Amino acid sequence: MTSHRFQPQGPLSGRLRVPGDKSISHRSIMFGALAVGETCVTGLLEGEDVMATAAAMRAMGATITKQGDEWRIHGVGVGGLLQPTGALDMGNSGTSTRLLMGLVASHAITAAFTGDASLSKRPMGRVIEPLSRMGASFEASPGGTLPLLMRGAQPAVPIEYRLPVASAQVKSAVLLAGLNTPGITTVIEPVPTRDHSERMLRGFGAELDVEEIGGERIIRIHGEAELKPQQVVVPGDPSSAAFFIVAALITEGSDLVIDNIGLNPTRAGLIEVLRQMGGNIEELDRREVGGEPVADLRVKHSALTGIEVDPAIAPSMIDEFPVLFVAAALAQGTTVTSGLDELRVKESDRLSAMAAALTLAGARVTECEDGLVIEGTGGEPLAGTTGEPVTTHLDHRIAMSMAVAGLASRGGVEVDDTSPIATSFPNFMALLEGASQ
Ligand code: S3P
Repeated sequence: MTSHRFQPQGPLSGRLRVPGDKSISHRSIMFGALAVGETCVTGLLEGEDVMATAAAMRAMGATITKQGDEWRIHGVGVGGLLQPTGALDMGNSGTSTRLLMGLVASHAITAAFTGDASLSKRPMGRVIEPLSRMGASFEASPGGTLPLLMRGAQPAVPIEYRLPVASAQVKSAVLLAGLNTPGITTVIEPVPTRDHSERMLRGFGAELDVEEIGGERIIRIHGEAELKPQQVVVPGDPSSAAFFIVAALITEGSDLVIDNIGLNPTRAGLIEVLRQMGGNIEELDRREVGGEPVADLRVKHSALTGIEVDPAIAPSMIDEFPVLFVAAALAQGTTVTSGLDELRVKESDRLSAMAAALTLAGARVTECEDGLVIEGTGGEPLAGTTGEPVTTHLDHRIAMSMAVAGLASRGGVEVDDTSPIATSFPNFMALLEGASQ
């Protein structure tokens, strides 16, 4: 564990660039590993989570190397994954685990999946259930958790699956299993979640169609697909940019440009909510990169006002609530959030972890069953922590959110463990330090 005290450091200014999108980075490695030929990826996030995906795809036969700034992936073809010789270590990464379980489900492979203490508490039943219906079988730890052993089915059976939880990981697991399944596999999504799998699978040449009926999305993938190698340019991660957006909004005198941020509408909920709170966030040079909308964002210090956040927007900002809670703690008035049960099964229980951490830093927070209610300071700095540090629970986003809270505190915020930050944002500390010089 590496503890660190995050202190006020003055206005954030100039320009910075955050690393590549985590969701797109995972998928570019997985899909490249299933294409026949060489896929080249630039802007890949080189965080621990994505490296866990790369190690697993190597263990199942793909060749993955880095030359200069470019990652090159030699795929084995859909259906061509090999039996790994050891367990697949997923580290802290739920995305690696759930998407790779989908991939393995329709291959004649037996694979053991293991992970760290945080990942080993997270529910895998949500993918075990549909993948079992497709013919895979599982021996999981009690409660449907890791470590688990899975036997893929060959051939797998196509299913029509209505998602019981709004989860892009579950959707993607079923679609990826469908890639090597004869016939058409269908996922019905009552609430739209991030659609990178759909966009990218189409880009790699899969036959995939999406129909929208009465607000629901019906996604059909044709199995026994042949994927063609691609040149992938990964845009900057809006979930990583989120920490700098909020840092600039709550730090007096800030005027910061964050370059090249992915603004896929299924990911951009935080920006909308912060604007509703009075945040000054300007989009510069809107363009398209790798099939995704992208812009540079100019963010200026703003007086924020508390709001009631519409729960319908939650799926498009599901990873951004921890840092939104920090913005709310500095806003004028009350912010009410609800409908956030999913936050309890992320890398940590993010409702209880953020309630505890913000309270320790001097914020006024009430934890409810499915959300937090936060009374903001109206721009006054938080007291900061004096005795104990805040606890991150192996959760990168708790560590980074509380780092941002430290900027708007009188005495600084001590974070017990900054090492989880490397899972998604290895240069976070350096960028944060550099932003105020
Ligand atoms: C992700 C989906 C989301 C998100 C995670 C990445 C993805 O998880 O929280 O960080 O890349 O598909 P859920 O599917 O559990 O909502």
